[in-house]
Parts: sequence; C-alpha cells; structure tokens
Amino acid sequence: MAAVGTWSFSLPAVERMRCMILAGQSSTDVVESATADVENDVQTGRYIVGRGGFPNNKGIVECDAAIMEGVPGRFGAVAALRGVGQPCRVARQVMERSPHSFLVGEGAEAFAREQGFTIEPNNDMLSDHTATAYQFKPLSRTQKSKAVLYLLTGLIALDLAGNITVGVSTSGKPFKAPGRVGDSPLPGCGLYADHRVGAAAASGDGDKIMCYCPSFQIVQLMRQGMSPKEACCSVLADIRKRTGEDKCFEIGLIALNMKGEVGAASSVEFPYTFWNQGMDSVEKHVLSY
Ligand code: GLY
Repeated sequence: MAAVGTWSFSLPAVERMRCMILAGQSSTDVVESATADVENDVQTGRYIVGRGGFPNNKGIVECDAAIMEGVPGRFGAVAALRGVGQPCRVARQVMERSPHSFLVGEGAEAFAREQGFTIEPNNDMLSDHTATAYQFKPLSRTQKSKAVLYLLTGLIALDLAGNITVGVSTSGKPFKAPGRVGDSPLPGCGLYADHRVGAAAASGDGDKIMCYCPSFQIVQLMRQGMSPKEACCSVLADIRKRTGEDKCFEIGLIALNMKGEVGAASSVEFPYTFWNQGMDSVEKHVLSY
C-alpha cells in the first residue's frame, strides 16, 4: 500500500489517499477522488490545476487530465476541456464508458455532457487570482517563463489488493494558445503504469517533456530492476545529457513500484509527498537541484 503526489499542495490529497487505501478502496477510486478534490479547490487552481487554473490567451480555462491503471489497456484522457471543474472524472468515464481512449475539445465536452457532467460558464472556472493574472498577463515568452512554474497534480496509488493507478490533471501553461495540449494526458509522457512494475508521473514544462516520454522510460527502467529513485534519476540524467546540463527545462518526476517504494528526481526544487505501509503518516520531501 502506498501513495505519492507531486508538489507540496498534494499533501492533503495524499493524506486522503492514505485513509481511502487503508479503508480498502480501489487505487482508481482513490486517485480519481483525491485528484478531483485538488481540481475542484479554487485555491489550488493557482498551481495550474482545474477550477481556478490559469486561462489560455483568450481568457478561457482549458484542462487536460488522464488516468491510467496498471492493467493493460486501461487508460482514459481528456484535453482542452472547457467548463468542467473535475476533468479527471471525465477522463475516468472515457476509460470506463467510451470506445475511445482520448477525447479533446468540443468532443470531450459533448462526451462529458452525455455522461451527466454540468458544463459551467468560464467565469466559474476562474478565480479572482487567475482572472487578475489574465488582465496583467506578460506579453513575451521570456516574461512568462520567469513568472510561473509549470505545476500540475500527479498522484499514484497502490491499493490493498495490489492494484496501481496514476492520475494527472492540469489547466496547462498559463495563457497558452487555445487547443494547446501538454505532456500531462499523453500516455508515456505525463503518466504511465504497468501492474507488473509500478507507475510514474511527470510535472513541468509539457511542451518539452512530451519530447522525452519520461514516464514510460521510468517504468521500463524499473522493469529492468532499478529502484524508483534510480529510474527517475537515470531518466533525468539522460534528458540533461541531451539538452545540455545548463539548458534542461523544468521537469519533476515521481515513481512508485509494486513494493510501495517511492522515488523522485527534478531539475528544479521539487517537493513531493508520500506514504507507504511502513510509515505512520504522510511525509514531504523536497528535492533540491
Ligand atoms: N505539464 C503541464 C503542462 O505543461 O501542461
């Protein structure tokens, strides 16, 4: 049994996951509900997640979310989805009820409506903080990258029955182009899971991360015998080698194996929170770079 999440704001979510896992709930229910709580909290929106997230360059919040179980073929994702405060719940429905695995934009919205989700006005998706940030948004690319870290929520759960699930959710890069999709919902990039091995999630600059498939690589390295930490460090070292030591973009990686061991690596200061059955409570670790 174990749970892990990206960034400090995942602490209450991982605490919730711990309680749900101990109560015998499935890893997918655990990840979906903990992610949905983070998404729906307007305060955590400023970390680029769900309701209260940063809008695109037209002032509209568009969210990406995905869920993957370790069981083969169990994956669902949505991208550029408007008007839904808990997009990971739609991603779960895509996995459970759609003949497809990934729906975007208007198609994702129509599917969400069919499944009974309310499509909310954009104003209800913005917070005062992000509405104001939009008014004063920086004009150049350089200003943007100095102004914000590209956060998102990535959560992984290993349940009592030995099932593993990973979920991710983000409103994407602040003031992005409409329709822009980052790494988060892309299988192998923002998330990956294999019930024989474990699971991984990535956070950071999605336009860059998606060029390296880090989550898939981490799981493959764990499959070859590396610990989660060794696998995360190895993937980051390889990315650094390819970009040049000084030019590595923002990326944070977390991984969990089927023994409940956790690992992480990052090119920036990266807090992550975790718990496993050997621990009394959830802990936060901060990786410095
Ligand atoms: N990693 C989040 C994004 O770039 O959309």
